[in-house]
Amino acid sequence: MTDLSQAAAIASPTAALAAARPFTIARLSDVAGAEIHGINLAKPITPELRDAILEAFVAHHILVFRDQHLTKDQQHAFTLNFGELEEHVGRLPDGTQYPPVHTVTNLDAETGKPTPTPSTHGNYFWHTDKSYHAIPSLTTLLHAVQVPPEGGDTLFANMHMGYDALPEDEKVALTGLRAVHSWEASRRNTGNKPATEVQKQERPPVDHPVVRTHPETGSKSLYLGMHIGHIAGMPEAEGKAMLDDLLERATVPANVYRHQWKRGDLVMWDNRCLLHRADRNYDMSVHARVLHRTVVIGTKPV
Ligand SMILES: [Fe+2]
Repeated sequence: MTDLSQAAAIASPTAALAAARPFTIARLSDVAGAEIHGINLAKPITPELRDAILEAFVAHHILVFRDQHLTKDQQHAFTLNFGELEEHVGRLPDGTQYPPVHTVTNLDAETGKPTPTPSTHGNYFWHTDKSYHAIPSLTTLLHAVQVPPEGGDTLFANMHMGYDALPEDEKVALTGLRAVHSWEASRRNTGNKPATEVQKQERPPVDHPVVRTHPETGSKSLYLGMHIGHIAGMPEAEGKAMLDDLLERATVPANVYRHQWKRGDLVMWDNRCLLHRADRNYDMSVHARVLHRTVVIGTKPV
């Protein structure tokens, strides 16, 4: 370190940290999201670099690494820096379980051609990944392999903002409420093929707080989405009306960052404080949209 940079470090610890960080960060919106430049994710990263990425991740909730061209193995290896990979309950059209790095696509399994009716469409509804697990996801990573010329966006809603905007008496009323999440309810809510008996046994219902505290920052957020069947201890219709109303207010445009994909994007987001959904804003019968997905296990919501 030069005398000058030592002086800067003493004057400003934040500036010193930024100087030591081997990448640049450019904020994408007031809601969430930052572009990261200067890292090739195809190569192994050091623990220090991983920690710097995690620091940016907690600060911005969504990290966007542009111009990455990763094999599935390279994406798998990068994902392992952040924890253990999730197993998936969903099945491929041939009935086999998803592999740890699986493909999100609108290409028809039989014809290989773009289709407006892919085999699963739950991702078009607001949700947080794997909330039907007792220990849901920390982060999901999506890597854009093929994207339409325009559209096919992913929307992210900041649930800290959703919670913060609630009147104080409503925050008090929500304290202690628990929502019951399940794969079965998720399939029902999204009009997908019903869960099979095997899937129901594999993923029995779990309950989580409606107001969740972020394990890294201590900030509160709403923990909602399409995987919820009902509110524990509340008549189903009453709970559904309350959840629908909460979801509508929490996902207003002012709380949403819209990610417009470019081929080569690797996007990782914080499932602990964001909802997300895909947008059908492209001609799905003409253009291919293919992304590789990995999901990391998090901690029990509190
Ligand atoms: Fe998702």
